[in-house]
Amino acid sequence: MSAASSVENKVHDFPNQVTGRAPGKTQFPLYDSTPLGFRDYWYPVMFSHQLREKKGVGLTLLGQKVAFFRSAGKAYAIENRCVHRGVPLDGSFCDFAGTISCPYHGWVYNLADGKVVAALTDGPDSAVARGNLGVRTYPLEERGGLIWVFMGEGDAHALAEDVPDEFLCEDAAIVGRVTERPGDWRHAAENGYDEGHVKYLHRRGVWTFWRRAPAWGHSKERETEDGKWLTRDLEEIGWGAEYPGLGFWPKKNFWRWRPGARGIRVRLPGALRVQYGKWAHYEWYVPTTEGNHRYLQFIVKRTGSLGRLWLQIKYACYIRPFFHTRFNNQDAWMVEGMQTPPEVLYRPDRSIVSWRRFVEKHARRNQPEPENA
Ligand code: FES
Ligand code: FE2
Repeated sequence: MSAASSVENKVHDFPNQVTGRAPGKTQFPLYDSTPLGFRDYWYPVMFSHQLREKKGVGLTLLGQKVAFFRSAGKAYAIENRCVHRGVPLDGSFCDFAGTISCPYHGWVYNLADGKVVAALTDGPDSAVARGNLGVRTYPLEERGGLIWVFMGEGDAHALAEDVPDEFLCEDAAIVGRVTERPGDWRHAAENGYDEGHVKYLHRRGVWTFWRRAPAWGHSKERETEDGKWLTRDLEEIGWGAEYPGLGFWPKKNFWRWRPGARGIRVRLPGALRVQYGKWAHYEWYVPTTEGNHRYLQFIVKRTGSLGRLWLQIKYACYIRPFFHTRFNNQDAWMVEGMQTPPEVLYRPDRSIVSWRRFVEKHARRNQPEPENA
């Protein structure tokens, strides 16, 4: 009978390795204390066309329940809870322009400031309307055909501080896909910027069928000059190699000739950009509840109206089904199942550690206090 083998999964002290996290200890107190993400940032939530006139949309963002409405063409975001008996407001009706009426007893809220302005079922002289009752409102902007919401206390920062310039250009064509996924937003962000998996996990599939992927590579991390992005420069690359005791990997395939993606970068509050030829892929990981996130993927290209139409066709026929769905579902599969800490990191995971350090250094500090700081 053979005995079970035992191994010691050391977290530290590998030559050439980077340090992983051990349970109960953290080098990243801020990052590790934000299962619900970073407040005081603008987040994208949906395409403008997904918010229809007088039809509320209820979402949970950063653990907060938010109702979105459009009235007289203008979009609003308010706390999704009626102050009367606590029912969600996203099922409200719009009886008067610029307001919503709670579906239960008809308390009327002004969408611009969240104040209760009437209680229809208590008559026009209701004391409720004269009190200082109301719900929280969230700053909201519509740019690039998208709805952006500021998830913070106090005054909102300028939108351009958190939204990449490309999204705000007049000639930006933006298409994309919005889904809700299981998995911690930090695992999703780390997976997005993870250097090693692209060379293995994504080797199989239609999107990468023609692309030649290296076996391994080593990069050096750096911050962009404006301090907004973390990116990396390739220093060494191996297209194939003899692995001791195993043989050569990967097999050479004559049909793989297209280059892979280039110019990957990540930024707060959890967004990734990848350059593909003339267009860029973006993705945001917006925490919803603990352990779940909203995943927004966009293709952005600066172009004229014909180019926009061509992008829409290409997106519907090829990019959406094969890249934004099948390829990125490979990531979803990993993110959903990931459980760290503990972890044992290897050389390409410098990307992950650099991202955590970047967050510690640059995140806006108006966050809940870290428990173990
Ligand atoms: Fe909203 Fe009564 S619960 S009006
Ligand atoms: Fe991936």
